[in-house]
Amino acid sequence: MGRIEKFLSEREERGLLRTLEPADSRHDGKIRFEDEEFIDFSSNDYLGLSGHPKVKNASKKAIDEFGASASASRLLSGDLSLCHRLEEATAEFKGKESSLVYNSGYQANVGIISALCKKGDAIFLDELSHASIIDGMLLSGARFFTFRHNDPGHLLSLLKKERPRFKEALIITETIFSMDGDRCPLREIIGLKESYDCRLLVDEAHATGIFGKNGSGVAEEEGLAEKVDMIMGTFSKALGSFGSYVATTGRIKDYLINSSRSFIYSTALPPSVIAANLAALGLIKEEPWRRSELLKNSDYLRGELSKSGFTVKGSSQIIPIILGESRAAADMSRCLKEKGYRALPIRPPTVAMGESRLRLSLTYYHKKEVLEKFVHDIQVCR
Ligand SMILES: Cc1ncc(COP(=O)(O)O)c(C=O)c1O
Repeated sequence: MGRIEKFLSEREERGLLRTLEPADSRHDGKIRFEDEEFIDFSSNDYLGLSGHPKVKNASKKAIDEFGASASASRLLSGDLSLCHRLEEATAEFKGKESSLVYNSGYQANVGIISALCKKGDAIFLDELSHASIIDGMLLSGARFFTFRHNDPGHLLSLLKKERPRFKEALIITETIFSMDGDRCPLREIIGLKESYDCRLLVDEAHATGIFGKNGSGVAEEEGLAEKVDMIMGTFSKALGSFGSYVATTGRIKDYLINSSRSFIYSTALPPSVIAANLAALGLIKEEPWRRSELLKNSDYLRGELSKSGFTVKGSSQIIPIILGESRAAADMSRCLKEKGYRALPIRPPTVAMGESRLRLSLTYYHKKEVLEKFVHDIQVCR
């Protein structure tokens, strides 16, 4: 049997074959497939900005002005002044000197890490790092050392033992972890990066727009943005659009423009997307109640699920309910589907064996009444 058939049949046998499921429409935290509508707990539109009139209008206006495409990479003729405005706004939002826009969070991590680290360097990363971080690291050719999840003690022991053997070193962590919804010990990690002469890259994909007085993320909330060398994040989650950025120094930005292959060799973001991102950044300032309500409702749901005896993790708008075996998560997801919820199971290889879960992503549209009914319904499914 060839590689393709072997792979597919193994996945099929284990009930782990992923398939696509086209939705017919989405709005206000709901998703529709043909004539069935579900409350959607599996999107990252945390603040409900993807359908905001200001975001949609900004996009439409940009299409009228510039057309549908940037039509070239930024180093050719795709470098629109609109994108420079977005970079200035992002740098200010993140409290950094400068920022560089990438086409997606995946491309940013792959392009930043592989440009910064080379053979002879070391990368120290949290064991729950996103696939895009791992792929960037593998592409870089650097040696890598994984520390236990959110365990600065383990990072310290790895740095003590390994750091002296390498020229340059990079520490990488997410600030809010995508699958566990918990927060990294940022202050301790910064202490270690300073003591051991490393750079620090944080991925704020799930924190941006949600945490901090200005909604910039965990680095802002903890007053540490200045001490982080590179703050990466996406426009594709709380900002309701698409694309990503790294906020950093002007010199690192210049280096990436000249060396980061996922930046150099790809057509720039379409003007409509850049304009949507700019509008969304404005809304983070203008409508702060979206994030405060979301966090209040997330605390409520986590507390109620925990009282009902479920094992829940995290401290953010991402609420994983740990169910153990793959089948338990799939069965729970199926039962909730019958009750009108889209809450997809997350199973190996995305999470460790025995850690299968439902990962609930709350959004601004999941109001308390919806959550109260959900707590009732999930108990019936148990
Ligand atoms: C932590 C983390 N980093 C990066 C990404 C990639 O972002 P994007 O969806 O914009 O490619 C994701 C999204 O899944 C993520 O969860």
